[in-house]
Amino acid sequence: MTPSAYLAVLLAIASPTIIQALDNGLARTPPMGWMHWQRFRCLIDCQAYPDECISERLFRTMAERLATDGYLQAGYEYIMIDDCWASKERDSDGKLQPDPDRFPNGIKPLADYVHSLGLKFGIYGDYGILTCGGYPGSKYHLEVDANTFAEWGVDYLKLDGCYTDFHNIEEGYVEMGKYLNATGRPITYSCSWPAYQEPEGLKSNYTKLAETCNLWRNWDDIEDSWDNVTDIVDWFSGNQDRIANFSGPGHWNDPDMLLIGNYGLSYEQSKAQMAVWAVMAAPLIMSVDLRTIEPQMKNILLNAEAIRVNQDPLGIMGRLVLKKEKIDIWTKPVLPIVKGTNSYAVALMSRRVDGYPRRINVTLSELNITHPGGFILKDIFSPQNEPVAHKDKDVIFIRVPPTGGLLLLATPR
Ligand SMILES: *[C@@H]1O[C@H](CO)[C@@H](O)[C@H](O)[C@H]1NC(C)=O
Ligand SMILES: *[C@@H]1O[C@H](CO)[C@@H](O)[C@H](O)[C@H]1NC(C)=O
Ligand SMILES: *[C@@H]1O[C@H](CO)[C@@H](O)[C@H](O)[C@H]1NC(C)=O
Ligand SMILES: *[C@@H]1O[C@H](CO)[C@@H](O)[C@H](O)[C@H]1NC(C)=O
Ligand SMILES: *[C@@H]1O[C@H](CO)[C@@H](O)[C@H](O)[C@H]1NC(C)=O
Ligand SMILES: *[C@@H]1O[C@H](CO)[C@@H](O)[C@H](O)[C@H]1NC(C)=O
Repeated sequence: MTPSAYLAVLLAIASPTIIQALDNGLARTPPMGWMHWQRFRCLIDCQAYPDECISERLFRTMAERLATDGYLQAGYEYIMIDDCWASKERDSDGKLQPDPDRFPNGIKPLADYVHSLGLKFGIYGDYGILTCGGYPGSKYHLEVDANTFAEWGVDYLKLDGCYTDFHNIEEGYVEMGKYLNATGRPITYSCSWPAYQEPEGLKSNYTKLAETCNLWRNWDDIEDSWDNVTDIVDWFSGNQDRIANFSGPGHWNDPDMLLIGNYGLSYEQSKAQMAVWAVMAAPLIMSVDLRTIEPQMKNILLNAEAIRVNQDPLGIMGRLVLKKEKIDIWTKPVLPIVKGTNSYAVALMSRRVDGYPRRINVTLSELNITHPGGFILKDIFSPQNEPVAHKDKDVIFIRVPPTGGLLLLATPR
């Protein structure tokens, strides 16, 4: 088979259940960018916290850091406002307007500035009566809000689902998607309805999600702790047979923001989050103060090979394939295809707390990674370790730090 024929087969295998997916040409790989929520929340007191409050100043500053500190070059292209940007009242024409003290020039000049730096601009809305933070929601205003966002130059909309009846919200999201499309402006559409249904025990309609949205938040909000990372990873692995096939170019499952560089995760835990998010083909949305981030944390976010795994053109969501001695092992087929076999990214994530890096043994064939010539195995976060060749049945010893993780790349030889 030619590589492109093989690719077509792989893609067909990867998404057998999807009849139709949203076709706006966007998010062909998982979106990458920066969003304020996890780090800055609804901090609106600009008297007390002038450098941190949700304001034009914060987004200008973060956009500048994104454009000049290597993030944009690495692929992080969206700068996104989450909740708490709006005025509590719509304007006299019924349009959303930003808080006049915190965004004195309005949203459009901010979007223009973001674009002038080579970045894209995202904003937040809510399908309900109010946003989660109590600002005006888009219910009964979908069309005018879609048009307002397009006039402002919005490239990405996160539409939340607070203050809705979560049983019946799909059609509202579908309607908003039609209005966004009708603006003629390409706007990446991030939906939140599963995050309101799944925690209530409802199984969301992923066929409809893939038809309607470029990405969707499946589960609860992430908070700044390792427990939250492991809880989210457990939900995704526990539901992978139901949801993984619906991730693919143009439509992604979203386990929520990266915590890397904030207060809650150690260095090793940060590598674990990056490894698993890369293998899950998760959107890579940072939420960190880019003015003060530690260089070693920044290096994790900018790791080019981890990003390449995440952004792999096959767009396959990896799966948990094995748990061994409290270490989760995830795999994801990626390019390149060598002699008819694709490469694999392998993420290991340890739940152990017993102090030393635990040595486990695995064979590639146990992970369903097989090729007659074997594979070259490379440790992505430790480039000083020479890549090693292994046959499928070789017993490979891998040391994984407690509450930490590794990302390996297996290339056929
Ligand atoms: C609108 O939808 C059509 C049909 O799916 C698609 O071809 C087009 O690119 C979309 N336009 C925008 C701006 O999203
Ligand atoms: C899920 O959505 C698809 C596409 O909109 C629809 O055809 C199907 O009937 C829905 N499934 C259920 C169980 O509602
Ligand atoms: C994050 O942790 C908090 C505190 O334990 C918990 O209330 C919340 O449900 C967790 N969220 C997720 C997504 O696990
Ligand atoms: C997902 O795709 C795999 C093949 O990759 C297939 O075996 C499986 O049945 C599909 N699962 C669902 C829920 O459609
Ligand atoms: C390995 O692949 C076989 C055949 O495709 C499948 O039945 C099995 O579930 C897979 N095992 C894992 C751990 O993915
Ligand atoms: C591999 O690890 C298992 C425990 O998980 C152990 O029983 C076995 O002896 C190990 N094999 C080798 C070759 O070290």
